Amino acid sequence: MAILVTGGAGYIGSHTVMALQERGEEIVVLDNLQQGHKQAVVAGKLYEGDLRDAAVLDRVFSENKIDAIIHFAANSLVGESMKIPGKYYHNNVYGTLCLLEKMNEYGVKKIVFSSTAATYGEPENVPIDEYDRTLPTNAYGDTKLAMEKMIGWFDTAHDIKSISLRYFNAAGAHASGKIGEDHRPETHLVPIVLEAALGKRPHVSVFGTDYPTEDGTCIRDYIHVSDLADAHILAVDALLGGAASAVYNLGNGQGFSVKEVIETARRVTGKEIPVVYEERRAGDPAVLVASSARARQELGWNPSRNKMEDIIASAWQWHQSRPNGYDN
Ligand code: UFG
Repeated sequence: MAILVTGGAGYIGSHTVMALQERGEEIVVLDNLQQGHKQAVVAGKLYEGDLRDAAVLDRVFSENKIDAIIHFAANSLVGESMKIPGKYYHNNVYGTLCLLEKMNEYGVKKIVFSSTAATYGEPENVPIDEYDRTLPTNAYGDTKLAMEKMIGWFDTAHDIKSISLRYFNAAGAHASGKIGEDHRPETHLVPIVLEAALGKRPHVSVFGTDYPTEDGTCIRDYIHVSDLADAHILAVDALLGGAASAVYNLGNGQGFSVKEVIETARRVTGKEIPVVYEERRAGDPAVLVASSARARQELGWNPSRNKMEDIIASAWQWHQSRPNGYDN
């Protein structure tokens, strides 16, 4: 019995592979290594290839006995998706269609799907729950919503059961120090702040100080990547135990503003971290905070690394020991 992790060389995928290994699972990773790093795959059998390549999927499914899939492989940059949406529909939506067709062909009936808070768009309520309106404000979020829906129709027609996990802001790194966040280019707040602390960037640009929040900067819900990894394993267990298809939010339920994140990073690192205040970034909602009550109740998820200090400290450990990410 093996678990296939698509996108297992990426940030959240690699942490999930590590968590699966800690449980002694047999792991198969499929990654085209466009964004992922070979060195991030610390366990399992790696197939270097693309979801849209039928021959690679045939090899993966015929050479292994796959019981469940955790599907991360996708492009995930909001800004890029607004400039080249076609890339997102092709890789994310068509890639997922290719995967679902092969699951059907090989009789694999369980999939955990890496979704996003970007499916909601501008929230109606804070905290957001899973029944709230989904109206994405960017192409990336729209592809993820389309993928969720497509997976749902494969349940209706072919009994493929799925759990879609909508993450809020993933941050932090594995406690072992072996893996962490390394995006090229980096666009996420926490690694950018820590790169500034290391002196790799002259300053942090704060995008917008006129939002309707207490200090005028955007509020986000930061969740430790290893807590996310744990949720994926609970979701696989639920599906293999016969659970029905479902959607869950994954967040801490607590919001931090951009300024608060920078202040916390200053305390954790002891560095000054210069900032420059700039215009708003297109497509950013003011406040995104999750209600994860449903994941806690139904999956038994209990995120334990939920202090902002600890999340940033774990990322800081990774950035200090690997200032060039997977390059050294
Ligand atoms: N920010 C800055 N300066 C930076 C980078 C970010 O001020 O240099 C701000 C952003 O404007 C935003 C906040 O910090 O207000 C967090 O930004 P991130 O880019 O770290 O994260 P996002 O909230 O934009 O996006 C994350 C994921 C997306 C996902 C989205 C869902 O990266 O994949 O959450 O809400 F779609």
